[in-house]
Amino acid sequence: MSAIRANGLVKRFEATYALDGVDLVVEEGEIRGLLGPNGAGKTTLMRVLLGLVRADAGSAELFGRPLHSGGPEALEQVAGFVEEASFYPYLSGRVNLELLAELDGGVGDSRIEAVLATAGLTDRAGDRVNGYSSGMRQRLGIAASLLRQPRLLLLDEPTSGFDPAGVREMAGLIRELSAAGTAVLLSSHQIGEVEAICDCYTVLRSGKVVWDGTAQQVRGAAPAPSYALSTSDDRRALEIAARSPDVAAVPSPTGGLELTVGGDGLDTFMFALGDARVAARRLEMVVSPLESMFFALTGGPQSGPAPSERASTPQPAAAGR
Ligand SMILES: Nc1ncnc2c1ncn2[C@@H]1O[C@H](COP(=O)(O)OP(=O)(O)OP(=O)(O)O)[C@@H](O)[C@H]1O
Ligand SMILES: [Mg+2]
Repeated sequence: MSAIRANGLVKRFEATYALDGVDLVVEEGEIRGLLGPNGAGKTTLMRVLLGLVRADAGSAELFGRPLHSGGPEALEQVAGFVEEASFYPYLSGRVNLELLAELDGGVGDSRIEAVLATAGLTDRAGDRVNGYSSGMRQRLGIAASLLRQPRLLLLDEPTSGFDPAGVREMAGLIRELSAAGTAVLLSSHQIGEVEAICDCYTVLRSGKVVWDGTAQQVRGAAPAPSYALSTSDDRRALEIAARSPDVAAVPSPTGGLELTVGGDGLDTFMFALGDARVAARRLEMVVSPLESMFFALTGGPQSGPAPSERASTPQPAAAGR
């Protein structure tokens, strides 16, 4: 049975369609990334699925139980938060969790300590929440979500404010939960982060689903990825690229070469460099398949939330695929 099955969800705020006929399926144990530029409707979709707002049209089932008309049971075993989780600022993280647990019918102290440890908050659990950094508040939000051992977690930008180590820990945690059968719907603007942990993606734009598929499908359907390459002899590497099918190379304004590669062109090109005794010193994917897909679907890096410098560097002409 699917964790989420939503059909034709519509949510309007005056003239704005935050959701404009959204269909979404999230299977049990699946980690689905929800992507889209600012204002695409990600938070609104999470709010609807968490029962915080009612859709104007359409329907959704969580584990086969209809949302809204099915009463609060539909949200059993569902947890998560949108934007930033809120807590009592003058109480400690641990006391906040104890209060939440009580509201939920109570959980043992050991469960509270376990979720604090999982969220990496044990050391600061006795401190008041108003002294927490934003990353620590997000961690407390995660700890709170885990109190009820959810089968479905809805996380809206859960790692915003996290340091790089925290992002990595969160990815590990989400993978562990998914391996134990929890379905996760996760929104993020960090495409690299999403790419590292998600099995599949839904891309929203202006309240509509503009792409839905698996990580494998992204790799197959995305525009050619691009790479930064530096070699022992870039001039010679350019000549070799000119003769290589599926590879387009141009000198990069910052040194080295920019490559756009289709099909299996990269392997063939790298072998050709080796045959010509040109050493590859650095090869880095600059725009990943998911990123190029995202930019193509959402109107380029300019419309994205955080146009990265590397993504806006001029792209070499697309190679044949
Ligand atoms: N309470 C509200 N009142 C009026 N308009 C709203 C409200 N909530 C959302 N919207 C509008 O709905 C659209 C979708 O907003 P939403 O917050 O779902 O986008 P998002 O994809 O989460 O964006 P972001 O990446 O910036 O978090 C936006 O145009 C937004 O202005
Ligand atoms: Mg949002």
